[in-house]
Amino acid sequence: MCSKIILYALCVLYLEISLVSALDLTKTHISNPRVCIIGAGLAGLTSAKYLKEEGIKFVVLESTRYVGGTWRYDSRVGYDENGLPLHTSMYMHLRTNLPKPTMELRGFPLPDDIPSFPSWKIYYNYIKDYAKHFDLERDIKFLHNVILVSRVNDIWNVKYQNVLTGEEFEDEFDFVIVGTGHFSKPNMPNIPGEEKFSGSIIHSHDYRDPIRYKGRRVLVVGAGPSGMDIAIDVAYAAKTLVHSHHSKINFRTVFPKHYIRKPDVQEFNETGAIFKDGSYEDLDDVIYCTGFQYYYPFLDESCGLNLTPQSVTPLYKYMVNIYQPTMLVMGLVVRACLVVALDAQSRYATALIKGNFTLPPKEEMLEEWQKRADSIISRGRPISDIHFLAEKEDEYYAELTKESGIGRVPPVMFKIRAIDTEAKLENLYTYRNYAYTVIDNENFVRSLDNITENNSGNNL
Ligand SMILES: Cc1cc2nc3c(=O)[nH]c(=O)nc-3n(C[C@H](O)[C@H](O)[C@H](O)COP(=O)(O)OP(=O)(O)OC[C@H]3O[C@@H](n4cnc5c(N)ncnc54)[C@H](O)[C@@H]3O)c2cc1C
Ligand SMILES: *[C@@H]1O[C@H](CO)[C@@H](O)[C@H](O)[C@H]1NC(C)=O
Ligand SMILES: *[C@@H]1O[C@H](CO)[C@@H](O)[C@H](O)[C@H]1NC(C)=O
Ligand SMILES: *[C@@H]1O[C@H](CO)[C@@H](O)[C@H](O)[C@H]1NC(C)=O
Ligand SMILES: *[C@@H]1O[C@H](CO)[C@@H](O)[C@H](O)[C@H]1NC(C)=O
Repeated sequence: MCSKIILYALCVLYLEISLVSALDLTKTHISNPRVCIIGAGLAGLTSAKYLKEEGIKFVVLESTRYVGGTWRYDSRVGYDENGLPLHTSMYMHLRTNLPKPTMELRGFPLPDDIPSFPSWKIYYNYIKDYAKHFDLERDIKFLHNVILVSRVNDIWNVKYQNVLTGEEFEDEFDFVIVGTGHFSKPNMPNIPGEEKFSGSIIHSHDYRDPIRYKGRRVLVVGAGPSGMDIAIDVAYAAKTLVHSHHSKINFRTVFPKHYIRKPDVQEFNETGAIFKDGSYEDLDDVIYCTGFQYYYPFLDESCGLNLTPQSVTPLYKYMVNIYQPTMLVMGLVVRACLVVALDAQSRYATALIKGNFTLPPKEEMLEEWQKRADSIISRGRPISDIHFLAEKEDEYYAELTKESGIGRVPPVMFKIRAIDTEAKLENLYTYRNYAYTVIDNENFVRSLDNITENNSGNNL
């Protein structure tokens, strides 16, 4: 009798397993799923908010004692009080580089009485208010650092450690949402002669405040968003600001007289840098604004992702791990309104986990990805471009909605970003003077911002 029941149960189990594997290799519809969210920055918080609304069980594992990730300023560099590398790359004078409407999380308006491009302080408070308003903190295990995520017997095994006690835990989950950000691990250029140079060399990850550069000769390397912003911030204090980069972007900003544009650095010697054009500058300090690396030391090979410092592949819709589609990697879009994109991705992930839609078969997802990869390679571009949205941003939002049924990110977001990009090219000193007011899903008006914030300027 007993053995008959067991035999029957085994048969059913076997049938179920073979049906599942035969019918749908990318099956993601699991009843009563358990979700592990890694990180309590914007990606983790928005995911938590939407999963909670759907009544889906989840836990957020966060290695620090704070929400907000990189938006929390910390005057220290190096390691935190628990011996973990400091995650944040925030600096004292940072104001958002995108205007208010494109920094807003769905269902939680930014206050009216703040500047169009608020300081990190205002924005960090906004994130904390979001966590409070949606009562998310109770579901966050703070001070728990994820050390290993592996795929074992068709389930996610997540190993994490209490950073205070060292105690290790292991839990099983049906889905993993990776929200650990990608502006934390410095990408160092390794220029010849660095070791000879007698001045200071830091990466923008460790840049906090221009005061220490007062009256000094400073080299800033790189012309990405951090390079441009930090060059201007340091130029207020420095005696000379040497800016070395090879950007082909047509920046039309008129810089002050003590700003000197240079090509790439050839090498350093004890007293300064020799540039590719053979010229030389005496220097006291160097700041590398050379970007960040993708860094997921906790993702085991069994996760099925190809991880390099420049790319995370292959991903469907810039976030679904194609070989293990119950893993979602958030925020891996470049040249986009990242906050708006993260919010949409969190809703897409929630709709997927909820079972509102099913993913296409693996072959189809791979094909879509491969097409994009081939086009990048055929244009002679580096594979890191695989994360660029740029002109395709609005189309991306439309696709997410079409596939998953989530509310559409209004096209006006992309339009604002386009005009703001133009304003940046025109003048990096003044683009933050504009305020953008959304009229409807397609339209906005631009005016001069008349709200100023205390202590937010670059005045020394
Ligand atoms: C200097 C700077 C300025 C920026 N300015 C803008 C801007 O103006 N506008 C804009 O839209 N975007 C801006 N960004 C981009 C910014 O990264 C996003 O706005 C957003 O904060 C990304 O959120 P996230 O949750 O993906 O990552 P993060 O904010 O980096 O959060 C990741 C979280 O994961 C935690 N974590 C990491 N590893 C582990 C682990 N192993 N276990 C547990 N927890 C872990 C971290 O402690 C952190 O709390 C800026 C970024 C930087 C660095
Ligand atoms: C570094 O190189 C420059 C240019 O060649 C030179 O003028 C300078 O004296 C050198 N510094 C040292 C310490 O040799
Ligand atoms: C899932 O579908 C239901 C029913 O249509 C809808 O109410 C819910 O908002 C959807 N969830 C998400 C995250 O899109
Ligand atoms: C600036 O101030 C005027 C008058 O007080 C107000 O009508 C206008 O809406 C303000 N502009 C913005 C962008 O807030
Ligand atoms: C700004 O500073 C002034 C004077 O120091 C103060 O009265 C005002 O309340 C401050 N405003 C904000 C938003 O902190």
